[in-house]
Amino acid sequence: QTRRRQRLFELLARAAAFYARVLWESEDATEARRYLAARGLREEVLRSFRVGFAPPAWDRLARAAAAQGFSADELIAAGLCTRSQRGLYDRFRGRITFPICDRRGRVLGFGARRMGTGEGPKYLNSPESELFRKGRVLFGADRARAAAAKRGRVIVVEGYTDVLALHQVGLQETVAVMGTALGEEQFRELERLAPRIVLALDPDRAGLAAMERAGELAERLGLELRVAQLPAGKDPADVVQELGGEAVEQAISSATPLLEYQVSRVLADADLEDPHARDTALEETLRLIAGTDAGIHRQQQLVRRVADELDVPVEWLSARLREHVGGDR
Ligand code: CTP
Ligand code: MN
Ligand code: MN
Ligand code: MN
Ligand code: MN
Repeated sequence: QTRRRQRLFELLARAAAFYARVLWESEDATEARRYLAARGLREEVLRSFRVGFAPPAWDRLARAAAAQGFSADELIAAGLCTRSQRGLYDRFRGRITFPICDRRGRVLGFGARRMGTGEGPKYLNSPESELFRKGRVLFGADRARAAAAKRGRVIVVEGYTDVLALHQVGLQETVAVMGTALGEEQFRELERLAPRIVLALDPDRAGLAAMERAGELAERLGLELRVAQLPAGKDPADVVQELGGEAVEQAISSATPLLEYQVSRVLADADLEDPHARDTALEETLRLIAGTDAGIHRQQQLVRRVADELDVPVEWLSARLREHVGGDR
């Protein structure tokens, strides 16, 4: 059993090396190299993450692995190949490959991105297997470990390219959840990396929902969690590319607790010209502030901010908050 696992790890590591060699050396990968460069990702960070390119042909990897003595069963168990009537074919073809590693740097699987004209989903990942369970791994944990320990903080983003972009601007303590679900098992991994967590998920509906769930989990587990507010419509990689490293650093260093973030979001999203929308925003912020066990001092600070932005008297709003808190009991 352990012997088999070792073989699969060996196969996956060789697959990563194979794809990386294709990316840097093959004519097939000219477009891929150009694509990555156009996204502002530099060779140094790409090499350090062993990013590669899966050639477009049907079975290039399958043949190379067979020549090295790996069996069809092993290729399938590693999630690299699928069987069809005509034989074994490669799962990843014509895509940029991101090896997904465990904390110790062993390759467990891949995420693979299509380029502009490619077909199928934007990202194709390794199937769940005995080695790879997406909900357990944090992409980049192996590369982030040292920086996270040293700085006492870990930055959590959604995607592969976000991790690379942040590393490139010096935020090496960054890992990705590979989508938005941030479960308890990933929290356990985060806990091992650093005591302070900064979430910088995509600022869209899904990202916000994930941050709210994460906030509750963190509270339950006693971890310190903060949330970075990114410019509307941009994920961390977009911010680095369009606004520069300093803009993303700024967003991360001014990350706030979830409650402050939620209140800011409500105020930022409301149309303050519309009296009805203002009422709704006021109720919503009161509900948020009353619903936490944030101390009285923090609550007062938030009430002052809301009163200021909605242009209502602080005393009146404080009284409303007391009603709210009382009413919920
Ligand atoms: N993801 C996935 N499968 C998909 C879409 C997304 O596994 N079909 C995961 C990937 O890990 C991806 C992350 O969710 O990196 C975040 O998704 P998204 O924000 O849509 O992609 P980006 O990471 O922003 O990718 P890119 O910048 O390359 O478009
Ligand atoms: Mn997203
Ligand atoms: Mn994104
Ligand atoms: Mn992106
Ligand atoms: Mn209430």
